[in-house]
Amino acid sequence: MKEKIIELLNRADDYISGEEISKHLGVSRTAVWKVINHLREEGYEIESVTRKGYRLVSSPDILNEEELHYNLNTNVIGNKIISYDSVDSTNQQAKKLALEGAGEGTVVIAEEQTAGKGRRGKNWVSPPKTGIWMSIILRPDIMPENASMLTLVAGLAVCKAIREITSLEASIKWPNDIVVSGKKICGLLTEMNSEIDYVNFVVVGIGINVNIEEFPPELDKMATSLMIEGNQIYKRKRIINKTLEIFEVYYKKYLETEDLTNIIAEYNECCINIGRNVKVTSRSQNLKGIVKEVTRKGELIITDPQGEDIEITSGEVSI
Ligand code: BTN
Repeated sequence: MKEKIIELLNRADDYISGEEISKHLGVSRTAVWKVINHLREEGYEIESVTRKGYRLVSSPDILNEEELHYNLNTNVIGNKIISYDSVDSTNQQAKKLALEGAGEGTVVIAEEQTAGKGRRGKNWVSPPKTGIWMSIILRPDIMPENASMLTLVAGLAVCKAIREITSLEASIKWPNDIVVSGKKICGLLTEMNSEIDYVNFVVVGIGINVNIEEFPPELDKMATSLMIEGNQIYKRKRIINKTLEIFEVYYKKYLETEDLTNIIAEYNECCINIGRNVKVTSRSQNLKGIVKEVTRKGELIITDPQGEDIEITSGEVSI
């Protein structure tokens, strides 16, 4: 009933009477009043005026399905949102749900992760209510070798969403990070379940440091948050919805060619590495050079000191 009342308050342009709500839901006005009080305790600001009814003034930045759905303009991505107060890792949870049949575009989100996963077995610090810890389940009809580009698609979506909502100068650090002022603000972890020539599902995990006030000393030099950079508290809901909306557009473009052809110009425009002297550390090699571009297949092209172009498919790049 709580969810329905939130929906009715959200939908009403102005006041909605207790009677209208109670008729709509087939419950007593006292029951409606109790839920309204409960919502107020949760942080919803609800005005009540005699003979007019209730009006929603503002909602808290709670990440539940109703709050996120209300302003989400997508067709597939986020059609189903599964939210948790606390979970080990949204990627872990998303993989479980995908194995149980969760559909394309399902979003798994949590207020807190107790065992957030970073790349290469690292932890991802995910304190309660201050960040966006979410995973998108995808079931693309693509060859498994093309799935890693989905990280770049998601990175571009996050970068654009942060720019649009916060006006901060966010950039992509190829291949997995979004940075602001040279520090990491978002990390992406893409995992896949596939056969040799068939993708069962892909889980794109997105972690964005939104309203984190400070980082432990060991992370302070490398990590930052939107709040630290923008000096204000941001509504996570707005960033989530914008990210999902932009992601849907780019994902569709990616599926058309099964690569980044349609979005590579925008990607390169957002990529902080382009034109910079970098060091690359990958499994097969360590090298230095100037970054030329990211290709439509998602590889980083580096011109080495001998003037030769080298194609990098994975690794850590300095900025
Ligand atoms: C990295 O930069 O190392 C990747 C970090 C990915 C973190 C996100 S938070 C949501 C999702 N669930 C996880 O456990 N990890 C990803």
